Amino acid sequence: MHALSSLFLLGTCAVQAALGHPGTARDKRDTAICKRSVDSFIEQETPIAWARLLCNIGPSGCAASGAASGVVVASPSKANPDYWYTWTRDASLVLTGIADVFAHNYSSSLQGTIHNFAVSQAQLQGVSNPSGSFSNGAGLAEPKFMVDLTQFTGEWGRPQRDGPPLRAIALMQYAKWLVDNGYKDTAKDVVWPVIKNDLAYTAQYWNETGFDLWEEVPGSSFFTIASSHRALVEGAALAAQLDTECRACVTVAPHVLCFQQSFWKASGGHVVSNINGGEYRSGKDANSILASIHTFDPAVGCDAVTFQPCSDKGLSNHKAYVDSFRSIYTINSGIPPGKAVAVGRYSEDVYYGGHPWYLANFAAAEQLYDAIYVWKKENSITITQLSLPFFKDLLPTITTGTYPSSSPTFQAILDAVLAYADGFIDVAAQYTPQDGSLAEQFDRNTGAPVSATHLTWSYSAFLTAAERRAGVVPPGWSAAHGKTVPATCSRVQVAGTYALASTSTTSFPANLTPDPGAGGAPAPFPSAGACADAGEVYVTFNARVATQWGQTVKVVGSSAEVGAWDVGRAVGLSASGYAAGDPLWSITVPMRAGTVQYKYVRVNADGSVQWESDPNRSLSLSAAGAPGACAAKTVNDTWR
Ligand SMILES: *[C@@H]1O[C@H](CO)[C@@H](O)[C@H](O)[C@H]1NC(C)=O
Ligand SMILES: *[C@@H]1O[C@H](CO)[C@@H](O)[C@H](O)[C@H]1NC(C)=O
Ligand SMILES: *[C@@H]1O[C@H](CO)[C@@H](O)[C@H](O)[C@H]1NC(C)=O
Ligand SMILES: *[C@@H]1O[C@H](CO)[C@@H](O)[C@H](O)[C@H]1NC(C)=O
Repeated sequence: MHALSSLFLLGTCAVQAALGHPGTARDKRDTAICKRSVDSFIEQETPIAWARLLCNIGPSGCAASGAASGVVVASPSKANPDYWYTWTRDASLVLTGIADVFAHNYSSSLQGTIHNFAVSQAQLQGVSNPSGSFSNGAGLAEPKFMVDLTQFTGEWGRPQRDGPPLRAIALMQYAKWLVDNGYKDTAKDVVWPVIKNDLAYTAQYWNETGFDLWEEVPGSSFFTIASSHRALVEGAALAAQLDTECRACVTVAPHVLCFQQSFWKASGGHVVSNINGGEYRSGKDANSILASIHTFDPAVGCDAVTFQPCSDKGLSNHKAYVDSFRSIYTINSGIPPGKAVAVGRYSEDVYYGGHPWYLANFAAAEQLYDAIYVWKKENSITITQLSLPFFKDLLPTITTGTYPSSSPTFQAILDAVLAYADGFIDVAAQYTPQDGSLAEQFDRNTGAPVSATHLTWSYSAFLTAAERRAGVVPPGWSAAHGKTVPATCSRVQVAGTYALASTSTTSFPANLTPDPGAGGAPAPFPSAGACADAGEVYVTFNARVATQWGQTVKVVGSSAEVGAWDVGRAVGLSASGYAAGDPLWSITVPMRAGTVQYKYVRVNADGSVQWESDPNRSLSLSAAGAPGACAAKTVNDTWR
């Protein structure tokens, strides 16, 4: 058996938790002991986590020899399992964490890491791969690449549509820092061209199925949708800041949010993390906890629509998720409800034996630290019928209501939630080996590390949780402008234009040193009607075309936006609304006012093309005429 001894003298919290009763003097004393032990774990683990995280980043990371500059390797493990790759999701989450720390505490070396990452991603966007080509954006959702930035051609769960929005979010964190410190031109000329492709991808493909963040379930993933929504809202705000625009972001974001609401299972009080596929699971999944912490916006309070960490939905979901692990891992036995336990990805997990994951434990803590931050900031805590069971586990006599900071209950809740959150760190600490190394998982029976060693994401998850616990929070993402759910959900998917950031423009000037406040006032958030210019019309092509498996439908016509009669540049339609009784293919294309001729083509799996019969279709597009107003037109066509 693996000899496991903890450097950190931990493991005490869980044992005490099993004996202590909530609210008693003994429980209070135990809580204080736990807090001190978590304090000391964090103090000791922080430098280790930073060092090991940076070790996994090329070109000079101590464990990343052979990785290209800016490449975040998932883990140095090259066999059992082989994680010697770079995943766009993992890398982007890690970089978002780095950029957040950097924004609070300038470091020229972290800045170099961020620059290298941005340059590497500009290059990676253009690497052809099995998910598709760059010209229509499809290749941007390739989940993983070799560490030298070449394609990975093996079988895999692809595409994974969380990569583009997460990379946009990572790069936007840095772009916002550049703007705030007076380097708007650099943000616009160097970083925005990369971000723009990922936003275009998100606005075009959000309504298609893909693989979830665990690369197992083809369908719609809550984490992917929440990340997509955030990226689009943040992208609209950043574009305005850079005196440009992302109208597709503005147009599409509300519909992504609308769809996001449908993952909620009211009867269970939790998110179903995978829909449109994957229904064979309960849906209680770290997917939703990660969605909550990675779309945290401290300025938007406990908003439930955007699933904020302190929202009643978020807390009810936290309980449902955590409780799903209480009885399945041996190391959790004897630990009562309301006390932290080891948590994993989802209870049905069998990967490597289906063990608890370090990053899941850190995420479970982080959500609660985020909540505590907001409650303190807002000087009040509201408990609804929905969140009551979460709070009752911690404080059995608590009732629904709003508790202002002046009430003694407010402090009692904060203390209880903090102790609970600390418990999740303590569990991870208990199963962290002496050298502080964080693998991917720890054994459900013995607590010994399992699977990939030195998982970059594990270190990053530890570091962000520790920051939130210390009250260091990320900047918001303009969630306040993106929390209105449209009355009806629409499938609007806007065809993007994709342009590779040339390697010559993707280079950063020297001496981008901090000059906080140099950025001036924030730009107003663009209103939904804000057009690129008065000559633009948003045209939605709805085509009823019966197709067979493997066939796709495209529109091609006389104007450049629909390929100028070059079928190689035709715009693909989406089948996300296709049903047996209604073979709908659809896409929205931003076009110029004027007359356009077009036809639909059916593309077979082998690439051969069938054209519609004559005559050409004709469409007359008139601009809105009034400044600020936007023209939109929908055509309903049937294949002929
Ligand atoms: C800022 O970063 C430096 C290392 O670059 C570190 O020594 C210092 O503790 C950090 N300060 C804060 C407030 O995090
Ligand atoms: C697309 O959006 C519609 C409307 O929200 C939703 O019903 C459908 O499930 C979505 N499909 C995918 C694959 O995202
Ligand atoms: C449709 O448009 C194409 C391109 O302009 C042209 O070559 C073709 O003759 C047109 N078809 C008809 C039937 O007018
Ligand atoms: C297209 O069809 C939709 C319903 O599917 C309808 O609401 C709309 O009015 C139609 N538009 C045109 C131009 O026929």
